[in-house]
Amino acid sequence: MTGCIAILGLGRMGSAMARRLAARGYSLVLWNRTPSKARALAEELGAEVVASPREAADACEFVHIVVSDDEASLEVLSGGNGVATKPLTGRTVFNHTTVTPRHSIVADSIVSRAGGVYVEAPVAGNPRNALEGSLVILCGSRAGEDVCSAKHLHDLGEVVYLGEPPRASAAKLAFNLSFLSIVAGLGEAFALAESYGLSAERFAREVLGRTWLKAIVERYGERLWPRGKASFAAALAGKDARYAFEALTDAGLPGSVAAAVASYYSLMTLMGYGEEDYPSLAGFLANLAGNKRNQQN
Ligand SMILES: NC(=O)c1ccc[n+]([C@@H]2O[C@H](COP(=O)([O-])OP(=O)(O)OC[C@H]3O[C@@H](n4cnc5c(N)ncnc54)[C@H](OP(=O)(O)O)[C@@H]3O)[C@@H](O)[C@H]2O)c1
Repeated sequence: MTGCIAILGLGRMGSAMARRLAARGYSLVLWNRTPSKARALAEELGAEVVASPREAADACEFVHIVVSDDEASLEVLSGGNGVATKPLTGRTVFNHTTVTPRHSIVADSIVSRAGGVYVEAPVAGNPRNALEGSLVILCGSRAGEDVCSAKHLHDLGEVVYLGEPPRASAAKLAFNLSFLSIVAGLGEAFALAESYGLSAERFAREVLGRTWLKAIVERYGERLWPRGKASFAAALAGKDARYAFEALTDAGLPGSVAAAVASYYSLMTLMGYGEEDYPSLAGFLANLAGNKRNQQN
């Protein structure tokens, strides 16, 4: 084992984190479920590729998981040749996947039982922030704050220590629920305007643009409309809204807003827009209303 850093999961976020760490001079070991992606990135960055999460954990002291959801995280940790299928003595496992608090507790116990240190470390920010080292990393571990001070973690962005798991996972879902509900609310407002003959663009420009909500419309700009490219896919945003709902109901709370946001994103995904950028839920709902009105006229 050396002081190398293993990155497991090389999608939009994992590959951006790998690029950032490689640019800062760290020695990387890469694994991805679809091996061709790992090979291409390793060639670009001069990194090593391994055939399984377990081989990555054998090779490196620091293991970072950046996969899509609870199921993928569980698979990487304890599926065939998973990270924790052999002892993890001397290893620290950072999980950057946005997961449910319930999963974070399970993941912590899997890694701890194997003798490793588990750190939940979901990130706020997008792949560009990862490339620039300006993510906000919400960090939590039963091993205490020191494990969140690892230098390479600070090279990825600002680290905020929140205590023991699953607090950081809960904070990440609370953060995502904040901005996803804004986008969904905006989409429903666009749909309302469209239904009564006022285009969403005109409503945004001539009404919202004259109020404090101008900042939100300007922040998202063209991203409010489906345009075939995503930095954070709508399907994953829907997963996060669903996880926020589950976390709230686990706490005995209603989660009505989270449920509504999740159902809008699942409609978007079902209609073939799951790989669109998450803010385009607003334009998607406006288009649904516009099409309905056109059919009625
Ligand atoms: N993109 C963002 O702006 C952003 C921001 C903050 C947090 N996040 C969170 O970061 C995580 C990754 O997001 P992303 O945008 O990088 O997603 P992504 O581009 O869709 O990549 C998903 C990654 O997960 C892997 N994966 C999926 N299912 C798997 C399984 N069963 N076993 C092993 N690997 C599996 C994929 O492997 P394949 O290549 O084989 O499909 C891929 O490497 C998510 O939890 C997301 O919510 C994303």
